[in-house]
Amino acid sequence: MSAFFAYKGGRLQAEAVPLAEIARAVGTPFYCYSTAALHAAYDGYAQALSGLDATLCYAMKANSNLAVVRSFAERGAGADVVSEGELRQAIAAKVPPNKIVFAGVGKTPEEMAAGLDAGILQFNVESVPELETLNRVAAGRGQRAPVALRVNPDVDAKTHAKISTGKAENKFGIDLPRIEGLARRAMEMPGIAPEGLAVHIGSQLTDLAPFEAAFGRLIALYRELRAAGVPLRRLDFGGGLGVSYRDEQPPEIRAYGAMVRRLVGDLEAELVFEPGRALTADAGVLVARTLYVKEGSARRFVILDAAMNDLIRPAMYDAWHDMLPLRQPAPGAEQGPFDVVGPVCESSDTFAKGRILPTLEAGDLLAICSAGAYGAVMASSYNARRPAAEVLVNGADFAVVRPRPDYAAILGQDRLPPWLAAPARGLSRAKSVASRGEERRGEPHGAATERQEVSA
Ligand code: LLP
Repeated sequence: MSAFFAYKGGRLQAEAVPLAEIARAVGTPFYCYSTAALHAAYDGYAQALSGLDATLCYAMKANSNLAVVRSFAERGAGADVVSEGELRQAIAAKVPPNKIVFAGVGKTPEEMAAGLDAGILQFNVESVPELETLNRVAAGRGQRAPVALRVNPDVDAKTHAKISTGKAENKFGIDLPRIEGLARRAMEMPGIAPEGLAVHIGSQLTDLAPFEAAFGRLIALYRELRAAGVPLRRLDFGGGLGVSYRDEQPPEIRAYGAMVRRLVGDLEAELVFEPGRALTADAGVLVARTLYVKEGSARRFVILDAAMNDLIRPAMYDAWHDMLPLRQPAPGAEQGPFDVVGPVCESSDTFAKGRILPTLEAGDLLAICSAGAYGAVMASSYNARRPAAEVLVNGADFAVVRPRPDYAAILGQDRLPPWLAAPARGLSRAKSVASRGEERRGEPHGAATERQEVSA
């Protein structure tokens, strides 16, 4: 985890703010991000790539909180977006449109139009029908859409199967042998300007070799296509390095930068990078309170007030996240194996099994580490729970950057259809009841009124 989360005087702090102080002010559970950690990660990446003609397009899917995106945009970052929603978030965070790439296998015509309206840097196109649709949309507006064809290089990223994207069997990208023909077709399309090639083989890569294999193939293809007269000028190298959640040892970002430099050599190309996790994972924690410690016959459970609806990574990918009590345990303090779980009614609502932790008691606060990427963005209100709040720390300051939604917001999302909505004071029902010749007594008007308010 980032050095910006550390114990001081026995209390776990984010920069200069004790996390327990935020818990008092905001309640639990909450995500806490450190500005210094975000900046350090971004600056490290930018420095490792300095001297190259490179744009860092932060992959907003990792954490699209406006304050987080703005913290990067302030440093000169672009954005990798995968929906109109993220495009709007990027623009709201003041990312310059000419530094925005629009990725994803299923862009709708409306989303394409939104990207064209904004004047983004490029659309990463992942299939023939998508290219045809983009052509139609752009040509219909008298525009040419800047396009990078996303290549599926058939490289094994050696990461979790659910986040591996570069094998032929994955839904992503266009098979390498089909690219040349498609690039030629693209040159003939009135609404398309083929400008680049893109690749992304997966996330949480902790070895440079798969990157190197994929980039090598992309560069070779780029040279071939240019030699064949396709006017390409940009290469998009996709997502960034993995992080250390447990004992993984991802390469230093400088080694990644050196590898890119070696491969690119004197190639004439603008470069795009789309790191998400590497910029945010270690810059965030999820802070939860222990509700109960339950002694089962086989195991001991720590039941937190955070759940899989707040952080789904352990349930979804069996992901490991370190855990630190907010109060530093005394040296030699008693420890035990605990199953750390949330209150959701599923056995998969488990953050850790048999985790060795200092003995916790009800009320104790715990930080779940490396939760800044793919944490809050994947939250839901499953079990009608209010998802965690989000807080950003900056030095000795902190601010709520996304309040916990209130129940009105959660309940207010649903509407009753006309046939279930209670009629206003029974006029129409009275009619239909009368027409069926039935008598009704003791209609519970209170309940009807309540349902109507909810649906309003
Ligand atoms: N570019 C593309 C086209 C992507 O699909 C992704 C991630 C990225 C960039 C950013 O990759 P990163 O630098 O973060 O590795 N929810 C999963 C991760 C899903 C990643 C999806 N694509 C998790 O929690 O591990």
